[in-house]
Amino acid sequence: MARFYVTTPIYYVNDAPHIGHAYTTVIADAMARWHRLLGDETFFLTGTDEHGLKVQRAAEARGMTPKEWADVTAERFRDAWAQLAISNDDFIRTSEPRHHRAVQELLQRVYDNGHIELGTYEGLYCVACEAYYTPDELIDGELCPIHERPVERVKEDNWFFKLSRFQEPLLDWYAEHPGFVRPETKRNEALGFIRGGLEDFSISRSSITWGVPIPWDPSQVTYVWFDALVNYLTAIGFGEDDERFASWWPASHHIIGKDILRFHCVYWPAMLLAAGLEPPQDVTVHGFLLVGGEKMSKTRLNQIAPADLVEEFGVDGFRYHFLRDVPVGPDGDFSYERMVDRYNGDLANNFGNLLSRVATVVGKKCGGTGPAPRADSPLAPVAAEAYEAAARAWDEFAPSQALEATWRLVRETNALLEATEPWKMDPGPEVEAVLGDALEALRIVSVLASPAIPAASEEAWRRIGLPGSPSDQRLPAAAAWGGYPGGLPVTKGAPLFPRLTPSA
Ligand code: MSP
Repeated sequence: MARFYVTTPIYYVNDAPHIGHAYTTVIADAMARWHRLLGDETFFLTGTDEHGLKVQRAAEARGMTPKEWADVTAERFRDAWAQLAISNDDFIRTSEPRHHRAVQELLQRVYDNGHIELGTYEGLYCVACEAYYTPDELIDGELCPIHERPVERVKEDNWFFKLSRFQEPLLDWYAEHPGFVRPETKRNEALGFIRGGLEDFSISRSSITWGVPIPWDPSQVTYVWFDALVNYLTAIGFGEDDERFASWWPASHHIIGKDILRFHCVYWPAMLLAAGLEPPQDVTVHGFLLVGGEKMSKTRLNQIAPADLVEEFGVDGFRYHFLRDVPVGPDGDFSYERMVDRYNGDLANNFGNLLSRVATVVGKKCGGTGPAPRADSPLAPVAAEAYEAAARAWDEFAPSQALEATWRLVRETNALLEATEPWKMDPGPEVEAVLGDALEALRIVSVLASPAIPAASEEAWRRIGLPGSPSDQRLPAAAAWGGYPGGLPVTKGAPLFPRLTPSA
């Protein structure tokens, strides 16, 4: 059986969840849901990144231990994902003992292989990023490029990962795995970093206590990336359950934002090679979601919480917009107007309207019993093409295209109804033929759209009288034309997606 292991970055607990985090998480969720439909054994991981100076300082400021503070803040992510119907199989926190064990195991392997050495580090450090910058990366030579505030000069003895040794192995890896990073532009960016020369990087700190101790030198704790990235291994049993680990790794798929491309596409594969492990199967890199042309940040006060939008658009409306309107790859400017347009266009006027129209006419012309579709329906080839195109797009981690393809079937079905106007016909075989086709299209769309709009798909499924749930179906069989059996009670109900009038 095929296996699909998909991950989001683990989010810093210091930040409150915003629509940028939600964007990544919803993509990963839709991917996981699609693969469950395919019958793949699926494991979907998200979680929180809790160690480091920022959390330590924030906790101190509140008179709490870092763990107590992280317990509070990690909960905000759990709550946000529960609200967005995120179907993660595990939620990892880097403060958990299982993660400490995995980090130490990986460190020890890399150390034993001779790729970690002692050195002195002096550098320009942004506390907010928890990262060092080279002077040419800074704004005006002194400000962090992300936070636009001064960096600190930090000097200490600590452990270094010998990344410089991995230029050739990484270039070979990329050459042998052309699909390692998508899209192509981001792959080229990663290759650019590698070709530009790699510097060893510091992986420990003596100045911090909130972290995983270096196994052979407990006076230091592991520093950010050697801790955080390992979460992808921890959750599948690395160092604890070899069989389980081997069943999921390296067939793993990381979804990340472009801000952490270098860590996932350069550091991470090198760290794994250094430990004698294979790099993950692929990394999908999306752009930033901008608000008013700028990256969301606490300091700019331009963060939008998912809950603010869910209130107006509903969970499915929220999910659909980000999946459909923000293609994976380029940056996308968040636009409320576009969100309203998409909601009204695709969800209210197309999918929702199709369902209510069909239910109404079945009620009036067929006594509320849904007829079976025609084997030679003009919609049959449309459905087949929609499925093929959607499956290809999901396979390429392109939800926007997958939904576009799925909605072609919705639009063609509405067009068939408009062309034949069954509401004007007398009851009989002709009406039944068109409505049977429309019900069958609705059945297929409910399955194909369920990774994006799980609740509405389920409700549509129920209203056309089908037992179970679209999420329990198996593709490709469930997309084959002719699955709607007919003879089922079709019920009307409140609009699935009430039309929105944009608020001023
Ligand atoms: N903790 C690290 C990641 C460690 S992964 C081993 C981190 N955390 S973060 O909280 O800053 O989250 C970064 C991720 O959040 C981005 O890679 C991206 O997936 C998502 N986003 C945060 N802001 C975003 C936007 N404005 N737009 C799109 N996604 C963004 O980095």
